[in-house]
Amino acid sequence: MVNDLIHALDRLDAMPEAVDLRRRSYELLGAGAGEAVLDVGCGAGLAVAELAALGVAAEGLDPSPEMIGLARRRYPGAEFHLGPAEALLHADGSLRGYRADKVLHAMTDPVAALAEAARVLAPGGRIVVLGQDWGGIAVDSDDPALTRRLLAALAEGIPHPMIARSSRNLLLDAGFRDVEVEGRLAVFTEAGVMMHLLRRASNDADGASWLADQLDRDERGRFFGMAPVVIASGTR
Ligand SMILES: C[S@@+](CC[C@H](N)C(=O)[O-])C[C@H]1O[C@@H](n2cnc3c(N)ncnc32)[C@H](O)[C@@H]1O
Repeated sequence: MVNDLIHALDRLDAMPEAVDLRRRSYELLGAGAGEAVLDVGCGAGLAVAELAALGVAAEGLDPSPEMIGLARRRYPGAEFHLGPAEALLHADGSLRGYRADKVLHAMTDPVAALAEAARVLAPGGRIVVLGQDWGGIAVDSDDPALTRRLLAALAEGIPHPMIARSSRNLLLDAGFRDVEVEGRLAVFTEAGVMMHLLRRASNDADGASWLADQLDRDERGRFFGMAPVVIASGTR
């Protein structure tokens, strides 16, 4: 399961659109050389390494030992810690930047995590949260009703599937100012990056033939999937 996720994230990370989205998130963070930034739910650590390469004092945090182990192996010079976003060990006002990419939906308590973000950021510090809205994921199919049902069931298995559309309001509720929101549409014409989700969605009595149809579309160059992505940012 974790290996499937890592493989899917690696493929996604390499897409030009994903490279551009990360670059935009760093721009919105606005961290200068030597400024302390925490990447929460850092996964395999790519953003931490990229921020460090820009001179930022970046640090990654993730509650998954597999993810933190992989991040440390991939980027031995970077700083990674094991732990959840809901209970940070950082002192009040000790960070200039806080970033969470494709993470809020997976958290146990995103409201508590954003309260922690507000606590650890210094006045004037920046927060950037981004991620896909699972309620808006769409896949082309000859059976739209079945597709809708499978994708809805997939979303129901996620702790906070629609949190992307709430992210602006959550930052406002957590007391951030200058809150801004941007949107992107991620479009996939190959199943590869979405395969992890397609397999999970097809875990249903009617799922096997649906997945076979999607794989056949992919082989014929006819796969089409899309997901709305929301980037919300604010100032402490
Ligand atoms: C879809 S991955 C995204 C990883 C990385 N941010 C990226 O963009 O590739 C979601 C990550 O959130 C982490 N996560 C789950 N619950 C969390 C929590 N409560 N606090 C921090 N991270 C969490 C998972 O362990 C996983 O590494």
